[in-house]
Amino acid sequence: MNLFRKNIEKMKGYVPGEQPQETGFIKLNTNENPYPPSPRVIATLKESASSLLRLYPDPLATRLRQKVAEVFGIRPERVLVGNGSDELLSIIARAFASPGDKLVFPSPTYLLYKTLAEIQDAQAVELDFPEDFSLPRDILVKGAKITFLCNPNSPSGTMVWPEEVSNLAGEIDGVLVIDEAYAEFADTNCLALVEKHSNVLILRTVSKSYSLAGLRLGFCIGQESLIEGLMKVKDSYNVDRLSMAAGIAALDDQEHLRRNVEKIKETRSYLIESLREMGFFVYPSQSNYVFFRTPSPQVAREIYQQLKARQILIRYVEYRRFEDCLRVSIGTKEEIDTFLDRLAEVGARGQGLGVRG
Ligand SMILES: Cc1ncc(COP(=O)(O)O)c(C=O)c1O
Repeated sequence: MNLFRKNIEKMKGYVPGEQPQETGFIKLNTNENPYPPSPRVIATLKESASSLLRLYPDPLATRLRQKVAEVFGIRPERVLVGNGSDELLSIIARAFASPGDKLVFPSPTYLLYKTLAEIQDAQAVELDFPEDFSLPRDILVKGAKITFLCNPNSPSGTMVWPEEVSNLAGEIDGVLVIDEAYAEFADTNCLALVEKHSNVLILRTVSKSYSLAGLRLGFCIGQESLIEGLMKVKDSYNVDRLSMAAGIAALDDQEHLRRNVEKIKETRSYLIESLREMGFFVYPSQSNYVFFRTPSPQVAREIYQQLKARQILIRYVEYRRFEDCLRVSIGTKEEIDTFLDRLAEVGARGQGLGVRG
């Protein structure tokens, strides 16, 4: 006897990138930040680990929302906080999508959007990105309830510029969710669109640029009417006391953020250049990872496996039309040098791999 709803029974479920429990791996597979978070975060967490933990956290996250508002130059009423931006995506799907509704997104992109559509028993409308990852021509779907735009996009690292996104927001049916998980690594972002468009929701996270993937904290920014509606859907205490306190400390240390982002951008340029010198086609990246083509899907799989055997994890997902591509997160310069050395080794040893060592 199956007790689940039919759509849950049928779906596969989201598979996150590998998180090996053994130590010793160089992890370049889930776009974590290689540098530690601000020391202020650690100090705040120690201070906050007190007997106050017996009390529930502020359900409105008042102080944290004020801090987010201050840093982003918006009103606190325009901020919703969540247990990572994944939770915010889930709240959005639950708030706007009924069974059969259309949830639209260009593909390949963050795989969770499809999973959320499946959980809602909604219709996932996946539109192929063109080869250059510009917006698909057919992105305007009549009756769309939610359109997701991951910007910069994962896995490609490419970006659709704000002016074009603004035109899209003005024309689509339903809500436009702009997932800016990687915005701090990009030259620009779409935050200003919230002022102009009442159907736009922007998502940010402390997981990547603030080095706090282990904390679970994300922000959703939109006009008051949307945020008020989403508040009704969230759990009362969806962000705990420790995450709220640490989030405020992280946002307070913008200098720490800036320094780490600069280092990552420098290493990104170095990695892109090195891969191109080895003969790979590399997509331009506005993010903390790089997406590159290998000679074939077999080669991509082989490189992934050979690197894993050498304790280096990168991300290999067989995205349709991009089965020959691999994604590498930007680690420290030393980690990236080790990755490049091992890649050259794999290329040199694997006769016929077509990779220049
Ligand atoms: C595009 C995108 N959105 C959201 C997330 C999830 O972020 P969080 O850690 O805040 O849940 C990720 C994580 O990899 C991501 O790549």
